[in-house]
Amino acid sequence: MARVFAHSDVVTLAEYSRVPVINGLSDYSHPCQGLADFLTIIEKKGRDLKGKKLAFVGDGNNVATSLLFGATKLGMDFAIATPPGYELPAPVWELGQKFAAESGSCLLATHDPVEAVRDADVIYTDVWASMGQEAEAEMRAKVFPPYQVNAALVAKARPDVIVMHCLPAHRGQEITDDVADGPHSVLWDQAENRMHAQKAILAELMVGG
Ligand code: NVA
Repeated sequence: MARVFAHSDVVTLAEYSRVPVINGLSDYSHPCQGLADFLTIIEKKGRDLKGKKLAFVGDGNNVATSLLFGATKLGMDFAIATPPGYELPAPVWELGQKFAAESGSCLLATHDPVEAVRDADVIYTDVWASMGQEAEAEMRAKVFPPYQVNAALVAKARPDVIVMHCLPAHRGQEITDDVADGPHSVLWDQAENRMHAQKAILAELMVGG
């Protein structure tokens, strides 16, 4: 398993490796996180995710990419609200559209967090500045406050909405304490599921090999 910054590094490793290489996070995607997240969503919302809606609020980053891919593979609706200039990359969105056409997911990309979370079964957020973007953190902290997941935003979603975050969180920035520790939060079950999902990846690769 390789956790890298540049996605091309993990691709190069896979090209020259005689054993499977797992992407443990790159600047493009975070599939290990995505698998743990859908395990958590299935535990909380059931196996049939068709017609259920995941709303991502924040940066169109690696985690958002893996959630888009997972949701559209599973037929789950996906909405994302980002500040202008922080949308998912166009090729990522186009791939999501292709998967959505195959599975029947509805997609929405907006700059309005309230529109994104309307009728959402899952609200998901992540840090405003990812690893490797530390130099941009100050500037991003000025742009992202309207995208904070707080009680007022959570109240716009379904009453039984669950709130997710891949952690570590910057409390008071992308998520407030009352939401992270509140009744909608599934953060700790989600964190535990990283371990179970990663065990499943290893088991699958060993059986497959
Ligand atoms: N988007 C974050 C995820 C951390 C698990 C990062 O890349 O730093």
